[in-house]
Amino acid sequence: MSTTLPAVHRAPALPERVTIYEVGPRDGLQNEKAIVPVHVKAEFIARLEAAGLPVVEATSFVHPRWVPQLADAEELLTIVDHRGTMPVLVPNERGLDRALEAGVRHVAIFGSATETFAQRNLNRSWDEQFAMFEPTVKRALAEGADVRAYVSMCFGDPWEGAVDLQRVVDSGRRLLDLGCYQLSLGDTIGVGTAGHVTALLDAFNAAGVPDDLLAVHFHDTYGQALANAHAALEHGITTYDASAGGLGGCPYAKSATGNLATEDLVWMLRGLGVETGVDLDALVATSVWMAGELGRPSPSAVVRALGSSVEPGGD
Ligand code: HMG
Ligand code: MG
Repeated sequence: MSTTLPAVHRAPALPERVTIYEVGPRDGLQNEKAIVPVHVKAEFIARLEAAGLPVVEATSFVHPRWVPQLADAEELLTIVDHRGTMPVLVPNERGLDRALEAGVRHVAIFGSATETFAQRNLNRSWDEQFAMFEPTVKRALAEGADVRAYVSMCFGDPWEGAVDLQRVVDSGRRLLDLGCYQLSLGDTIGVGTAGHVTALLDAFNAAGVPDDLLAVHFHDTYGQALANAHAALEHGITTYDASAGGLGGCPYAKSATGNLATEDLVWMLRGLGVETGVDLDALVATSVWMAGELGRPSPSAVVRALGSSVEPGGD
């Protein structure tokens, strides 16, 4: 049991409560060299839900040749408990068919703000990606599923360099206009800084997209993810993507490293008096257990600081 917690100093202008959208089982495990056994994935998801995470993105229904790490999506969904909100990624109608067949009712499409990443991640041009998503979203909604959209490379692209704010806003608007309930802004390679976050959120607001339709998805390559989350919090964003233990990356963008660690985010939010509903001890214990399964320590500073005082548990 940990006894260390940050002192709370609440800034009244910040949101009282935020939603953490946990992506560890999907964004975290899609980038692991070794294939994690399906029963370990199922236990990871169950433990994250038990730690109070309200949304746990479970896996992806992408082409198994493109992401072999998640090729067991069907099997995973037969063994996890479907009580919580457990979205999955689907790139196209084939992915949607597989997800619906597995009983999924929360899906996420994932677009790119840049031409090169659309080609590399989806085998489509920037324009063609929308043609692939349009019938996918339409049918998902008709089947009663809700659809989230990601837009990647919002803060920079490893092949194209700087990405124009307006290009990101145009990409995001096209995805939202398909009928998605939320747009998650991805800093896929972690190059964004706090002022850039504020400028991008302002640009969305100016284009008529309010903060309550937006989420943020930071990778921590340059150690900026937590500062960027703070900038988003001051702006009024209330949904934060994060990955338990800081696992993560994208196999189609080699400079992408781990996501913002959920523990680091929860620690900061606790100190700011912003509610998340997450049990930090249970979460740290989960990441310590998962680090044991993966055979390497978690990159999360909070997991390292608190890890020795929790019992990892697990089978
Ligand atoms: P493609 O090769 O162009 O596919 O790949 P296609 O449409 O030409 O179809 C070719 C064959 O694949 C067909 O089979 C399809 O049925 C099959 P055939 O007729 O030849 O027998 N197929 C599928 N099979 C299973 N599941 C499917 C599927 N789709 C087609 N869903 C495709 C296009 C989009 C499928 C491919 O590019 C792909 O799977 N890409 C996924 C890449 C990926 O998962 N990247 C990581 C996630 S994104 C990310 O991490 C960023 C994020 O975290 C935010 C951020 O950080 O910025 C979200
Ligand atoms: Mg990501």
